[in-house]
Amino acid sequence: MLEEGLLSKLKEHAEYFPKKEQAILMCLHEVQNHYGHIPSFALEEVAKLLDLPLNHVENVVSFYDMFDRGEPARHRIRVCVSIVCELMNKDKLIKALKELLGIDFGQTTKDGRFKLIAVQCLGACSEAPFFMIDEDSYKFESKEKLHEILSRYA
Ligand code: FES
Repeated sequence: MLEEGLLSKLKEHAEYFPKKEQAILMCLHEVQNHYGHIPSFALEEVAKLLDLPLNHVENVVSFYDMFDRGEPARHRIRVCVSIVCELMNKDKLIKALKELLGIDFGQTTKDGRFKLIAVQCLGACSEAPFFMIDEDSYKFESKEKLHEILSRYA
């Protein structure tokens, strides 16, 4: 069962669109922001609220790498591993992240603060090597600058 505050936000999203199923991405973002990931019971609640089959909602979550059904984390760091970032030295970014966080891709820091996720092109190739923390975009400059950026996220 979803908490009352979250449920009323989802209802607001559903009422905003001419067809309530159009609110699916906003509802899933809301759920992920609330729980730090997308728990299975919440998928069922979103499907019920939007009058959609459960497998449709599951397919949407699987399709977008911004949605995470795994271990919860307060912040998701998505690192582009596609060709332009590869050519622009993404390995330095990845090495710095792994050293600063002490985790590998797919893992969450012990304090639940960050999860590290490898993704394909995020559409910001001119900013390569590129990564995102939640909805914030960054170009990697140095390990020191990266450390400063990470410190902004509690
Ligand atoms: Fe990395 Fe496009 S290849 S953002």
